[in-house]
Amino acid sequence: MHLVRLPFSKRIVTPQLSVLSSFQGFTSFQPSERLADAKIKKQSHSVCFMSSSSRNSRGQPLADYLKSKKFSTNPQNLEFDNNNTHLSFSNQANSNNHVFDLGEDDVDPNTNKTSILMEVGDKPGALHETLRYFWKYDINITRIESRPSTKRHRADKFDIFIDFDGSRGERNVDRLLYSLHDKMHSILVLDKKEVPWFPRHVSQLDIIANRVLDAGIDLMSDHPGFNDPVYRERRGMLADVALNYKQGEPVPYIKYTDDEIRTWGAVFDKQEKLLQKFACKEFLEILPLMKKHCGYSNDNIPQQEDISRFLQRRTGFRLRPVAGLLSSRDFLNGLAFRIFFSTQYIRHHSKPLYTPEPDICHELLGHAPMFADRDFADFSQEIGLASLGASDEDIQKLARCYWFSVEFGLCKQRGELKAYGAGLLSSFGELEYACAPYRPAGGTDEKPKFLPWDPLVADKTEFPITTYQPTYFVAESLMDAKERMRSYCEDLARPFFAKYNPLTQSVWVDRAVKVVKDEEQKRLDAENNF
Ligand SMILES: [Fe+2]
Repeated sequence: MHLVRLPFSKRIVTPQLSVLSSFQGFTSFQPSERLADAKIKKQSHSVCFMSSSSRNSRGQPLADYLKSKKFSTNPQNLEFDNNNTHLSFSNQANSNNHVFDLGEDDVDPNTNKTSILMEVGDKPGALHETLRYFWKYDINITRIESRPSTKRHRADKFDIFIDFDGSRGERNVDRLLYSLHDKMHSILVLDKKEVPWFPRHVSQLDIIANRVLDAGIDLMSDHPGFNDPVYRERRGMLADVALNYKQGEPVPYIKYTDDEIRTWGAVFDKQEKLLQKFACKEFLEILPLMKKHCGYSNDNIPQQEDISRFLQRRTGFRLRPVAGLLSSRDFLNGLAFRIFFSTQYIRHHSKPLYTPEPDICHELLGHAPMFADRDFADFSQEIGLASLGASDEDIQKLARCYWFSVEFGLCKQRGELKAYGAGLLSSFGELEYACAPYRPAGGTDEKPKFLPWDPLVADKTEFPITTYQPTYFVAESLMDAKERMRSYCEDLARPFFAKYNPLTQSVWVDRAVKVVKDEEQKRLDAENNF
């Protein structure tokens, strides 16, 4: 075993360690959060132990792998020291670019955790006696729970569940477990929780963006652009832009055609008048700023890159292009990284006030301004973090909450109903239908049902996707919407709690998990020769 030193580059440390950890000979590394701290405080190198002649499961030598195309690191910046025992990376040349391809790692620093179950006596100081070993061996506890023992005749005992950083095989962890075995009534090292694959670094959103369910070019026969070859070709070209985009790059500027700009202008003019009456005040405060900084006007379609730069400064959110429809899981996962997947195509010019699918009018007029509001941005990320590694059942619940809030949410302001959901803000008919106190509104006499915003009700409520909503949920305010969603997410039976680190653009999870790849993920790995 030799020491491998990795210069601490904010953009590369977590993934490189995760890749390295799949090599034979790898034994340990420090958790990524600590590494991040080290970077901030003293620009130190992080350290892991590995033989420089290590090979991965395919027999590929470590050095060859690191020099391969998987890393965009310039091979000239890759150096072993004179004894071939220390390895250095320099990634300066690519510091602003996408650095490497992820998704290949079964072991990740963010999931390098252990879970144990112990039984301790119900007496003063018992927990302290247990925890002092963690302090002694400098091991970071990430979660602790207790409950009365469920075993018979054990009324004087408590079960303690503890998750901590590190794995068996690491010196301090082994010493901790040895000490606890020696002192505790019983101790059990639990299997890692199996969870569906989820992105752990923002660059892994490239994997998600390339598995669209519908690339946006196979139009249905009733689509207004179905018989227009020019329109279909344009959709294909914009889909290619999205599919070729890599996270971290500037979003390419699109030169929109005169037809497209006129279509946008028709929607913009029609919608702007109604927005003044029915949009929430947060939206109306932001819109003038987006006109000023992002080019919102009736004769210009704003560019995703300009909007992202603006949002980044206000709330850290960004838009990234996507070719078409994503699964609920993939779409929500992006929000955990404060990334919103956004289409770039526009509806057909023959029917500017109608679209059978979300288009750029919906994304930029409905969604984008709201991401400039701090409460709304946090609210959206809360749903995203809860979606990471969630069960299919919980994804469905979260998707319904998303639908009834981010898409069709209402809130009360000065005694009136105001819209904060993008599906309303970008649809003049439904905006009036949902918010206007008079009838007819939005072209109909019918009146929808209004319920107080309650995620526990929303997560069980079905909804139509081709007609006006029969039910809307009304929050007391955006802050109220956020707090109720946060409380709901905390009570959800989640496999772990995830925290986003904006410095490393990665998520940290608080317990040991084993990522289970689905067939699609395995296929992508095989395609990429992992
Ligand atoms: Fe939407």
